[in-house]
Amino acid sequence: MKVLISEPIAQKGIEKLIEEGAIVDVKTSLTRQELLEVIGGYDGLIVRSNTMVNEELYKKATQLKVVGRAGNGVDNIDMDGATKRGIIVVNTPESNVVSACELTIGLLLATCRNIPQLHNRLQERVWDRSGLKGIELQGKTVGIVGLGRIGSLVATRLKSFGMNIIAYDPYISDTRFKHLGVEKKEKLADLMKAADILTVHTPKTEETYGIIGKEQFKIAKKGLVVINCARAGIVNEEALGEALKEKNVARAGIDVPEGEPQATSLLLDYENVIITPHAGADTLEAQDNVGITIAQEVVSALRGEMVPNA
Ligand code: NAD
Ligand code: MLT
Repeated sequence: MKVLISEPIAQKGIEKLIEEGAIVDVKTSLTRQELLEVIGGYDGLIVRSNTMVNEELYKKATQLKVVGRAGNGVDNIDMDGATKRGIIVVNTPESNVVSACELTIGLLLATCRNIPQLHNRLQERVWDRSGLKGIELQGKTVGIVGLGRIGSLVATRLKSFGMNIIAYDPYISDTRFKHLGVEKKEKLADLMKAADILTVHTPKTEETYGIIGKEQFKIAKKGLVVINCARAGIVNEEALGEALKEKNVARAGIDVPEGEPQATSLLLDYENVIITPHAGADTLEAQDNVGITIAQEVVSALRGEMVPNA
């Protein structure tokens, strides 16, 4: 069982793989070319979100039997290509959702209260709150797009802030909406018209790519707050930039900027946007959970045991 780890995972995960008898190479700074040159020697590959596992890689990965996505979203993995070759793809969809939810809430509060901007001023020894008045969450309506694992956790927590919670998710049953105490919006447009704060929690798919764009910002309430802790591209950055310029959107908090892992997002130029470098899952707890779970799943897949497919 030769396993290549191409992006950082928790030490506990690496130890688990070794304990289970795998030969493990941790090579987290390979160039794309180097990765393509060595991948042919491995039975398993463990990645996070930056390694593109696509046709180009599969062609070279002649021994590959399993791809382990140490995390949740599989948008960097060509699933059809894997299926065609009988390569199993496993991920850890439950392991980091609490951390992603908590960063969403953190970004929401930081955005609504300008916390980083106020901190930066004071660190420059300037005691000045002017122009940085915040807004309260209590009594506001938050619109959640995607009421899955993370969206549901966000809904539950934001209730305790006294917020009114509405959501758009055509794939979730009415019973689930009721159970969560969330008002269902049948159309995205209805959610956009009613929300003071928008937070997106869908996977990145052909259907959701750009789902929040120019049209949605046009019908939104003036002064909308936008949070994206899901994936770049679900909220169209150009459209968001325009909406910020036109003051239709007042502020935004983004964990997943375009251009990842380079700091090239156009949103970096906006003072009223807070951006983190895809840090939603970067907690001690989530990384340990993810590392151990993915190690176990990769080993099980290589042994031919039953595994939950991504
Ligand atoms: P999930 O699969 O549990 O939930 C996604 C929900 O989106 C589902 O309920 C689905 O029905 C809904 N959905 C799908 N298409 C939709 C559409 N067109 N319109 C409205 N709803 C739609 O996923 P999750 O675990 O909650 O993850 C949500 C997102 O967060 C994913 O993009 C994931 O990659 C991302 N994520 C980010 C971080 C981070 O570090 N920032 C960490 C974990 C997950
Ligand atoms: C995920 O999908 O799990 C997150 O975006 C976090 C990560 O990739 O580490």
